[in-house]
Amino acid sequence: MKIVNIEKMKEIDKRAYEKYKINEILLMENAAISSYNLLKENFKLKKEKIFIICGIGNNGGDGLALARKLYSENFNVSYYIIGNEEKYSQISKINLEILKNINIKREKDYEEGLEKATLIIDAIFGIGLRRNIEGEYFEIINKINNSNKKIVSLDIPSGINGDNGKIMGTAVKSTYTIAFGALKYGNILYPGCEYNGEISLSKISFPVENYNDIKTNINLPLEIPLRNENSHKDSFGKVVFLAGSKKYLGAPIFSTMGFLKSGGGYARLITSKSIINILSTNAKEIVYFGMSENESGGISFKNIDKIKEIFLQNKMIVVGPGISITEDNRKIIREIINLDVPILFDADALTIISKDINILYNRKNKTILTPHLGELSRLLNISIEKINKNRVEICKEFAVKYGVILVVKIARTEIYYPNGEIFINLSGNSALATAGSGDVLTGVIASQYILGLSIEEAVRQGVFLHGFTADIIAKNKGKDGVIASDLLEYLPIAMKKIRK
Ligand code: APR
Repeated sequence: MKIVNIEKMKEIDKRAYEKYKINEILLMENAAISSYNLLKENFKLKKEKIFIICGIGNNGGDGLALARKLYSENFNVSYYIIGNEEKYSQISKINLEILKNINIKREKDYEEGLEKATLIIDAIFGIGLRRNIEGEYFEIINKINNSNKKIVSLDIPSGINGDNGKIMGTAVKSTYTIAFGALKYGNILYPGCEYNGEISLSKISFPVENYNDIKTNINLPLEIPLRNENSHKDSFGKVVFLAGSKKYLGAPIFSTMGFLKSGGGYARLITSKSIINILSTNAKEIVYFGMSENESGGISFKNIDKIKEIFLQNKMIVVGPGISITEDNRKIIREIINLDVPILFDADALTIISKDINILYNRKNKTILTPHLGELSRLLNISIEKINKNRVEICKEFAVKYGVILVVKIARTEIYYPNGEIFINLSGNSALATAGSGDVLTGVIASQYILGLSIEEAVRQGVFLHGFTADIIAKNKGKDGVIASDLLEYLPIAMKKIRK
């Protein structure tokens, strides 16, 4: 499923006419008819008193056309216009003129309309919302929200910024939203996504080729190649992890076990010698390579030849969980950066790379970076606040510029590819906001690669699976008190469900 920003949506609308000769009035009629059909499917319209509140843009015009359709089917419908109707666009005006010629009720007082209604249609603002909502618009939206009635928004709940999901002063909290043409970022990103209620998409008769250049998608699960029953631990290739230090004992376990618990066969862990005894009592399934340490308990750079030798024997490398930020690790990363093997950099490795960002140009194979917002801010050298104002564009540019797959770990994790493609992940929930959950993700991505997906697919699939596991946990035992070990426990169950 495709996702667009406002600019792209306008481009698609424009192209619909310029290339395919589908004009605006046709699109508006399509929006109204498909809204009517979806309303009929989802509500018992015969029983409803439908009140449509229309703004003075084309979103309002969609509302007017819908009013006419509902009226023609004998449903109980009335409408109200907020704003100066003299300013209506040409096509919305056509719909208003038609309504004036028929016997449909236009409410003079919206409070009366709200009072009588059982189903409110919000057609106040769509993607044309420009500034913060104030005055009578602010009042009407708050009254809609306080009405305790069912609310359906056309395209996007009024008040949500279509580009970034921000609430522009206030916003309609809907029961159901019907998006037109494509989902907008505002329908998908927090906090806007919490205002949609259930969401449906109507393609308003755009030809499929009108979507070809949209590069942002919802992240859906992929089919993983079947396990060969005649396989052994090496069949799926080895993954090596450079993780852990005297200070961080959990990260290497969660990372490597995340790999094994989601289908990986053979995990090797390069870590500080002195912690192997403790680690191996917790995770016996890992093959350990103990390295001599520096004074802070991290791996010493002296081991670099050995590390490189082991790295090159593996199908994929994961570097970073709990390694600590040390000069030795900085030197190690500088040395291994040009190895011709896919590498996933996480956690401390990201912080180290952020001081040395141009070394990413030395990569000869695929690179995955999995930052949370703090690490992302360091990588980009931009404050979190500034990033969030224009996150999608900034991250897209970074992934393209450095040729990396960038996984931005937020409530709805975003995956940016070097070719400009973006996937937004919807699985997962707040239970994932727990220590060690990011470490697990590194292993899950690696396992999906080992099981036969391409690196690009494995990243998407890993992110989906990680969230999906948390969704299963939340269903079974709620979101409170979920720890990274729970994720490990449930990963095989999630894998089984995904394979069905
Ligand atoms: N306060 C008051 N008026 C505003 C504000 C605001 N904060 N922001 C924008 N407006 C006004 C604009 O001046 C314009 O008159 O709202 C109108 C734009 O509203 P929209 O209907 O959202 O924009 P428009 O571009 O006309 O239509 C886009 O049409 O294709 C349909 O529903 C689809 O969302 C899409 C919509």
